Amino acid sequence: MANILAWGNPRDMLTREIVPGVTVRDVRTLSELQAALDDRDVLILADVAHLEAEQDAVAAWVKSAGTRRAVLMGVADIGAADDAARRFPFLDDVLIRPVSGNRLRLHLERALDSLSSRRAIEQLDAAVARKSQELHELNKIGVALSAERDINKLLDLILFKCREITAADAGSLYLVKRGKDDSTTDDDYLSFELAQNDSVSVSFEKGQVPLSETSIAGYAALSGKVVNVPDAYNPPAGSPFKISRAFDEKSGYKSRSMLAVPMRDHQDDIIGVVQLINKKKDHKTVLRPVTLVDSTVIPFTSVDEELVTSLASQAAVAYENTRLIQEIKSLFHSFVHASVTAIESRDPTTSGHSDRVAILTVGTAERVDAIDSGPFKDVRFTKDQLQEIRYASLLHDFGKVGVREKVLIKGKKLYIGEMMVLRQRFAYIKRTLEAEHLRSKLEQVLAGRSSPELLLQMDRAYEERQREIDGLLNMVAQANEPTILEEESVRALMDLPNRSFADMEGNRHPFLTPNEVQALSIRRGSLSEKERREIESHVTHTFRFLSEIRWTSEYRRVPEIAYAHHEKLDGTGYPRKLPAAEIPIQSKMMTICDIFDALVAWDRPYKKSVPVERALHILGEEAGSGKLDKNLLDLFIEAKIYEKTLPKAGAQAEVAR
Ligand SMILES: [Fe+2]
Ligand SMILES: [Fe+2]
Repeated sequence: MANILAWGNPRDMLTREIVPGVTVRDVRTLSELQAALDDRDVLILADVAHLEAEQDAVAAWVKSAGTRRAVLMGVADIGAADDAARRFPFLDDVLIRPVSGNRLRLHLERALDSLSSRRAIEQLDAAVARKSQELHELNKIGVALSAERDINKLLDLILFKCREITAADAGSLYLVKRGKDDSTTDDDYLSFELAQNDSVSVSFEKGQVPLSETSIAGYAALSGKVVNVPDAYNPPAGSPFKISRAFDEKSGYKSRSMLAVPMRDHQDDIIGVVQLINKKKDHKTVLRPVTLVDSTVIPFTSVDEELVTSLASQAAVAYENTRLIQEIKSLFHSFVHASVTAIESRDPTTSGHSDRVAILTVGTAERVDAIDSGPFKDVRFTKDQLQEIRYASLLHDFGKVGVREKVLIKGKKLYIGEMMVLRQRFAYIKRTLEAEHLRSKLEQVLAGRSSPELLLQMDRAYEERQREIDGLLNMVAQANEPTILEEESVRALMDLPNRSFADMEGNRHPFLTPNEVQALSIRRGSLSEKERREIESHVTHTFRFLSEIRWTSEYRRVPEIAYAHHEKLDGTGYPRKLPAAEIPIQSKMMTICDIFDALVAWDRPYKKSVPVERALHILGEEAGSGKLDKNLLDLFIEAKIYEKTLPKAGAQAEVAR
């Protein structure tokens, strides 16, 4: 092959000397010139007279890198060289004819030098472009890895991306697990987490592999080295590991090239191993039949080692982050549950209330989120917002820890101890009456006036007084119930402080103390005004407690949502009497669910449970009077959200009764 191509007549362009090492071939047309090129470097001398006719075609050819391996120079007469350089800008230079042998050699040498430099630059450019592409790819994968919060999906993604970036047909992922004994690493092991294979279906089962150098993954994990084996069935001589053929034999697969890369976390600890199998020339190839392995599988390259090492450490950090986030979440979750247990253990009759309110409120929110029309068509809740609602619901009554237990579980108007004292007092009054009666009778007998008529008369009077005391006690016991008090009973109660009895020392005391009268005069329910305020203060306690927690941004509204769970749309709720517009929709949902559960839950000592139908009716009345959100209540009823907790609330039994 000539190293100079002369487009035109060489005699018109060159002197006639013979230059050793320089061979010239002449071509007549552009297509002849193109056909004469092969993959070697060449100097083209083009007579500018020939260029004229094919100027556009030559320009296009040069532009499309057709002269990548050639230096293209024009040859012109002495007076026309400058003009030619101007007219044919694609030329590398224009020489003056005739070109002597020495100049020809010089130009040829420079052309070859220039082409070789040009190629070196091209290679560098390609390497830079490839690196930048790899970097871009790694960054993209890094972002995808750090965005994945589900640990199983993350592991899947790690292995998939490692295979994708290396065109590996199959792969496995192992995690290093610490044994039970912290004092030694002897019982550490590899947990076989995941297997992927593009060519055969893998029936995968998680398992344990000993952490030893006898397996390729174990060796990579223990040594911290990248292991690159071109032929799995023939590992390098002296390798401590052997490659198991069990999978190949079972599935009809054939493992050839293998790459095992340790995953190092931010502390440089090895937390796992990515093992890749069978690098393919073309990632799309499916290795079926198995003989394709011989023709299409190639060894992993040093670039693969580099890429997977980098990716594996990003993956390790992402895995550790996700694991830590999950641990923090489950730690917090168990803390919330422990808090709920603490609240409910103070009032066992409300056991399960917080859980059920959480289920109902989240159920309502999910329903609202799913609706595309009507008043809630634009209301959406993300996964985090639903979790925020769950936490707010679970903790909505936490502030009850700040309410005295006796007030919290108070079922009647008098506390149990107060009622016992009162009963003792009435028993003492009756015993005093008895003693007085017997003393009078004895006095009559001793005075010799004990006619049977008189004694009978005295007995009757005594029994009458006993009945009166029993009647008074009965009335007190009835007034003690948390029902609505009749006007008549109120008057009788008011009278009792005027009745008195004498103690052992002869001091007189009223039948009922002013405090007892006040408690028994509560018109409705069992709580005095002060006690009612104390119970209501649980909402403020809840808010204060929840505000102490440094919630992450996605759950920042938990305190605010819980704070409004006793507010009513017409501004009659507590503690802040908020108007509807200032109550978060999450709280409006919670209020409905909270009331529903309180109504239908198992009987409490101070309150009977209400059948579901009745409970929904009561909620309907509350909505009708503008206290609850009617649209939310309709949705709660239509979507039968309330059924989600019925068995838990014991209400089904109630319905059946
Ligand atoms: Fe509450
Ligand atoms: Fe509640």
